[in-house]
Amino acid sequence: MPGVPERVERLIASLGRLEEPVVQAMRAVPRHDFVPELAMVPHDGSLRVIDRNTDSEAWWEAVYRDESIVTQLSDGALAITDLAGVDGVVELPAGADYTSSSSAPSTVAGLLNLLEAEPGHRVLEVGTGTGWTAALLAHLTGGSGQVISIEVDPAVAEQAAKHLASTGNDRVRLVVGDGARGHPEGEPYDRVHVTCGVRAVPYAWVRQARPGGVVVAPYVPGFGTGHELRLVVTPGGLAHGRFPGFASYMVMRSQRLPPGGVLSHTRDHRAGVTAVDPRTIGHAPAGADLAIAALTGLYSRNLIWDDAYRLWVFEPATPRAAAVTWRPGQAEFEVRQYGDRPVWDEVVAAYFQWVAWGEPDRGRFGMTVAPEGQRIWLDEPSRTIG
Ligand SMILES: C[S@@+](CC[C@H](N)C(=O)[O-])C[C@H]1O[C@@H](n2cnc3c(N)ncnc32)[C@H](O)[C@@H]1O
Repeated sequence: MPGVPERVERLIASLGRLEEPVVQAMRAVPRHDFVPELAMVPHDGSLRVIDRNTDSEAWWEAVYRDESIVTQLSDGALAITDLAGVDGVVELPAGADYTSSSSAPSTVAGLLNLLEAEPGHRVLEVGTGTGWTAALLAHLTGGSGQVISIEVDPAVAEQAAKHLASTGNDRVRLVVGDGARGHPEGEPYDRVHVTCGVRAVPYAWVRQARPGGVVVAPYVPGFGTGHELRLVVTPGGLAHGRFPGFASYMVMRSQRLPPGGVLSHTRDHRAGVTAVDPRTIGHAPAGADLAIAALTGLYSRNLIWDDAYRLWVFEPATPRAAAVTWRPGQAEFEVRQYGDRPVWDEVVAAYFQWVAWGEPDRGRFGMTVAPEGQRIWLDEPSRTIG
């Protein structure tokens, strides 16, 4: 069995280009100290249980692989021990969801690279989870820095507190509460580090950061993919920034989609056809996803079968939706539109607007956050698109 240093080095080597302080932090704060003895890893569209007591090598191997480790289901309503499974691979009941995890190391390192936390910094983390990122932040901010980490779920926070205590980490202050409000008692922050996805950036994070401070968050608008977001706060109380890359994170509790989902649409619909292949939009580059989300505010979901592909576009919590289906050999594609908003037509128009702009990639878009809300722009903050 390889030793911990060897596993850590192999993991670091697999993560691509990392800033040197992030590499040092990963060496100093090993992930296994923050992973519960019983947890789950993604496995062929399902989950596989890892148990340190019954199969220690599989547990160690999973902990030092670049993969997320699921530590809570359905806000704790479902325990890992409640799940039926064969050979450790479990069936999730309908409606069950992953609600806390140790994010994949490449994702953790990617956001930390962007944060550029330095010794002496005061950092607010939102979404403590296992406490691993908080401990990495404590290492990055050195002797006089301070990390305040907020977790909405008391049971998750309790586990994180145990992990931090057992590793002798006394520079992270844990707070149980809604991170969307930030933590005004600790402001001003040099850095705000968010490890749950947001569709709307709470202004509290900008207000509580000092001018020149940095806010890093996963931006998950709901249409297509998610994006890393790095904002810099101005002396005038705004924050501007761009989307440096891909980010996949579970969404902040208060910004989750209402339960139900698109498949509950059984009501009357208008049937038609479209010449636009739904795969063109469903598999469009990240820049198109950003543009369509900003121009329409709609969400999307892909459904893939052996011989068909369906793109759902929808407005949450309303009957307004469209399902567009590709089948092999067809030149036109079936469209079903539900409710009183022509959502497919809007999505197609937004997609062609993105094409008319010259198909800008993700890096050309940006966001400004102001007290009255956020706006998305193309190339420069004055060119608002949504
Ligand atoms: C992907 S996990 C965070 C991973 C964590 N940083 C780590 O190192 O293990 C996301 C966490 O955000 C928490 N969360 C969701 N909504 C929140 C909110 N409004 N305020 C604070 N925490 C929240 C979830 O309970 C979950 O534990």
